[in-house]
Amino acid sequence: MVKAVVLGAAGGIGQPLSLLLKVNPLITELGLYDIVNTPGVAADLSHIATPAKVEGYLPPDDGLIKTLTGADVVVIPAGVPRKPGMTRDDLFKINAGIVKGLAEGIAKTAPKAFVLVISNPVNSTVPIVAEVFKKLGVFDPKRLFGVTTLDVVRASTFVAELIGNLGAAPDVVVPVVGGHSGVTIVPLLSQSSHPLPAGLATADYEALVKRIQFGGDEVVKAKDGTGSATLSMAYAGAEFATKIIRALKGEKGIIAPSFVSLASDPAGAAALTAELGQELAYFSSRVELGPQGVEKLYPLGTITDAEKVLVKAAIPELIKNIETGVSFVEAST
Ligand code: NAD
Ligand code: LMR
Repeated sequence: MVKAVVLGAAGGIGQPLSLLLKVNPLITELGLYDIVNTPGVAADLSHIATPAKVEGYLPPDDGLIKTLTGADVVVIPAGVPRKPGMTRDDLFKINAGIVKGLAEGIAKTAPKAFVLVISNPVNSTVPIVAEVFKKLGVFDPKRLFGVTTLDVVRASTFVAELIGNLGAAPDVVVPVVGGHSGVTIVPLLSQSSHPLPAGLATADYEALVKRIQFGGDEVVKAKDGTGSATLSMAYAGAEFATKIIRALKGEKGIIAPSFVSLASDPAGAAALTAELGQELAYFSSRVELGPQGVEKLYPLGTITDAEKVLVKAAIPELIKNIETGVSFVEAST
């Protein structure tokens, strides 16, 4: 029995994500919460002939508590998306408060659930959830994940395009580490399962890195003021949630990058910190998942000089983003 919950379930990501979770046969209960429209979304999804029993709640009458009761996995895509000209950090003002409120609800009602944060800016919203949980005495660093899967999905697609074989896209594996915004997104293309073409020009390599780092901007621009990635994010969110659920049910050897607390695996963190040459509280590295959440953090491994430059550029931005999230909760009562 697995209960999955989506907070922000009526939104651009929330609806297709809820659909993908409803058709996941591993899920037996699906709880949907939003400040609007969740009863309708739940009624609609509940007619699909798959095992998950669907319920949708709104804020009145303890809707958040009802949704979260018994949750094993909570996915959070609640919050405002970007418009052209905005950075993810510009969303902080609104989304920080939304994520903090939802984290308080999770801490009180489902403190043992795995929490998967999609709401931007992820580099700051993940520390917000952690700080709320710490304040309420329920923080388990192994159970909190910033969802960076869309960067991984983009890297697979763009590499497959570059090697002229989009058919291989589902099999292309590229570790993407660091965080989830601009220069903090670091694709380790030298470790791609499918090597880049021999003799690829430096300019073409740099263009590929930039496209992975700023793939979100590509979608924001194309949507022209109506939002950011929703469908690809729903796909990526469902992929990551499914990995979490498979690991929860005892499947071994599932490894995926995710933005996690380095307290989740002190031994792995020590190796990673030595490579980074800098202590960080959170970092997206390859994570081995298990029934308790983070089982092992993997080091970066052998990387090229160009990738070392990318990692170095990510660190100051990550430190700043993490601090923004931590001090937001410290400053609030
Ligand atoms: P959206 O505006 O379409 O949907 C957001 C939903 O959140 C809305 O239905 C809204 O009613 C709901 N909401 C607002 N406040 C809430 C609250 N207090 N409790 C519950 N629900 C609440 O936006 P979207 O396109 O779905 O994007 C959502 C978030 O995901 C944005 O912050 C966006 O930047 C982020 N995002 C992250 C990634 C990633 O890779 N991590 C990718 C794409 C988008
Ligand atoms: C993305 O990478 O598509 C998301 O983080 C949304 C955004 O604002 O770009």
